[in-house]
Amino acid sequence: MKIMVIGSGGREHALCWKIAQSPLCTNLYAAPGNWGMSNIAETLHISVDDHQGLIEAAKHLHIDLIIIGPDDALASGLVDSFKSAGLTVFGPEKAAARLEWSKSYAKSFMDKHGIPTARWQECHSAEEALLALKGCSFPLAVKIDGLALGKGVIIAHTAAEASEAISRLAELGSPAEVFILEEFLSGRELSYLMMCDGHTFRALPVSEDHKQLADGDTGPNTGGMGAVSPPLWLTSEILSRIEDEIVIPTWQGIQQEGLDYRGILYIGLMVTADGPRVLEYNARFGDPEAQAVLLRLKSDLVPLLLACCQGGLESEVLEVHADASACLVLAAPGYPEDPVKGLAVTGLENLDAEVIPFYAGIRSYNGELQTSGGRVLALSALGSDLEKALEIIYSNAERVTFKGKQYRHDLGRRR
Ligand code: AMP
Ligand code: GLY
Repeated sequence: MKIMVIGSGGREHALCWKIAQSPLCTNLYAAPGNWGMSNIAETLHISVDDHQGLIEAAKHLHIDLIIIGPDDALASGLVDSFKSAGLTVFGPEKAAARLEWSKSYAKSFMDKHGIPTARWQECHSAEEALLALKGCSFPLAVKIDGLALGKGVIIAHTAAEASEAISRLAELGSPAEVFILEEFLSGRELSYLMMCDGHTFRALPVSEDHKQLADGDTGPNTGGMGAVSPPLWLTSEILSRIEDEIVIPTWQGIQQEGLDYRGILYIGLMVTADGPRVLEYNARFGDPEAQAVLLRLKSDLVPLLLACCQGGLESEVLEVHADASACLVLAAPGYPEDPVKGLAVTGLENLDAEVIPFYAGIRSYNGELQTSGGRVLALSALGSDLEKALEIIYSNAERVTFKGKQYRHDLGRRR
């Protein structure tokens, strides 16, 4: 089979890495891909926004299966475009991906179907949101309705911080026409990913991302600084509550709404003292969760992806390694605000064989490897338990060098 992965981050590298191991895959392409994937996939210089260019390439290359990585591609209806061109594509159509691209829709869905989430209210302008602050308690999560490259959520600790957050979010333009003010939830975050074929779903291993930039969950929110699977603190009791109170009602709600949900449904959860609550739905693999989760997937990914597109997921095998995984992001200085590009990256040849580097913001320029984005690469490993996986990763973290390298030193330490 000829397979094409759309996107250019670490998540897409992990997808390529896993797909390349499948005996079903004869040719692998990535559009636009990145330097790190180029030894396993042919990279095509086509932007994710160029629907027509992607369709033409997929037709020309006789691609049998396309997998879409990023959220903005789903929100822009890329799945719909590929499908109307008669191509087979993994990911939900725009209407179903709305669970991710409209927080207001997602929150209304949760309320309608009795799915526990933070209390919230919607405001239709910055002025209305500022007025509504009078009735709010703090901390407060201030959000905008649409996608905003991870910049659409600000946790405000006081009314003054919340007003400032509203002004900052208003500057994001059209995604900020609707504001959401949401009760602050404290607890432990968990990413629950399921593969869906429209009729049925299969859960992938659960993982925990580390959203804040710095140790001890301090500093600004990022796209994710590292993931572990499974987290040490997760008990089977919490997992059954998540499944009974959230996963099953969500799937039933999707059926009741008549959403044709195929692809990944990623439930972002906060496990609070009062039980699990949904923070958000995403319509794609997480980054860096995909890296941690796909390392633990024993089964061939390709038949599972195909079954999600064509149906029949219930008869597919989805086996998971008993080993734990960890994935540590090495980020450029200035990330997340303004990552420094063009810094020389060295030492990759010194990594132990058991470490898998998944690449993202890195490029080859005049024979030198350089940073080209915020999250440069993620060191990933399996271990007989999480301690072992973390030991492997941390004993390698200093071998990769670039000026101002940032990473978390406390991955998987929450208990
Ligand atoms: P979202 O895009 O809604 O998941 O928000 C991004 C991140 O902001 C989440 O992964 C959480 O770390 C944080 N966050 C969002 N909503 C809340 C909330 N209500 N309480 C606490 N943290 C939140
Ligand atoms: N790591 C969080 C996300 O992909 O949304």
